[in-house]
Amino acid sequence: MAENSGLLDEIKELKRKRNALIVAHNYQPPVVQDIADFCGDSLELARLSAKTDADVILFCGVDFMVEMAAILVDGKTVLNPEPSATCPMANMVTVDDVKEMQKENPNARVVCYVNSTVDVKSVSHICCTSGNAIKIFSAIKEPIIFVPDKFLGTYAASVTKRKDVILANGFCPTHMLIKTKDIEVARKKHPHAFVMVHPECTPDVTSAADAVLSTGGMVRAAKERAEKEFIVGTETGLLHRLQKENPRKRFYALNKNAVCPNMKKITLEKIHNALLNNCHKVSIPADMAKPAREALERMLSY
Ligand code: 13P
Ligand code: SF4
Repeated sequence: MAENSGLLDEIKELKRKRNALIVAHNYQPPVVQDIADFCGDSLELARLSAKTDADVILFCGVDFMVEMAAILVDGKTVLNPEPSATCPMANMVTVDDVKEMQKENPNARVVCYVNSTVDVKSVSHICCTSGNAIKIFSAIKEPIIFVPDKFLGTYAASVTKRKDVILANGFCPTHMLIKTKDIEVARKKHPHAFVMVHPECTPDVTSAADAVLSTGGMVRAAKERAEKEFIVGTETGLLHRLQKENPRKRFYALNKNAVCPNMKKITLEKIHNALLNNCHKVSIPADMAKPAREALERMLSY
């Protein structure tokens, strides 16, 4: 950390001068989590963006998250330290795919996971995150077209016992790396540990776990549960926060290769550059932002 201290001081000074807020997703590299004012899951970051009074939001995550903040804050400066950081799953479904699904299922409501492009959000009725998908599925009366994550959709449909969910074919390449074999091995090694996995994991993995939670849900479970050991089935960046906030408990990655390369593109140098030069501003064209905001605000009203 000592080698970063000059850079950290400069970032703190720029932050103060510009009345900037640095927010980071739970998968960000440890140094980025540590400089952030707030770390959270997608739902927490969306809520925070909607109500902050900072003039500048510097968002450390992947593009759909930064875009979501830009849609919700309207009128503030939103900076993306690394515009090439994207979510491959979000890019797996296009507006044309959604329109095709709607043509085949004209009575269905389109629910899109926030891990989606702005254009897909703009043609969706409502968004959801891994933290509120079950609530949103329960609230919708009509059949549901769910995009893009087939595994989150399968999980939410099974919990809500819905048979009328039409799924797209998207998936997260990072969570796909986590296998049931990893759970078997980890349980043998740590028999008293609580196994929690993300709903982007495949159905065989979610059914073999003790709990299926968003990253924010895992943070709360780690704090509140009596167990002293946790096996964590999600992107490995979350372990830094879990260990930092619960120094007396032990956390083990279910699969150490579950690393999202895009989340790891953010560095202190890129944060410094964005704040200093006011670069990589994100703004969404009004015709796209308006319907996408409606889908996000509908979600936030739950
Ligand atoms: P959370 O909303 O649970 O943090 O998940 C976001 C994500 O991209 C998972 O891969
Ligand atoms: Fe997208 Fe998966 Fe990375 Fe999350 S972990 S941002 S879903 S690729």
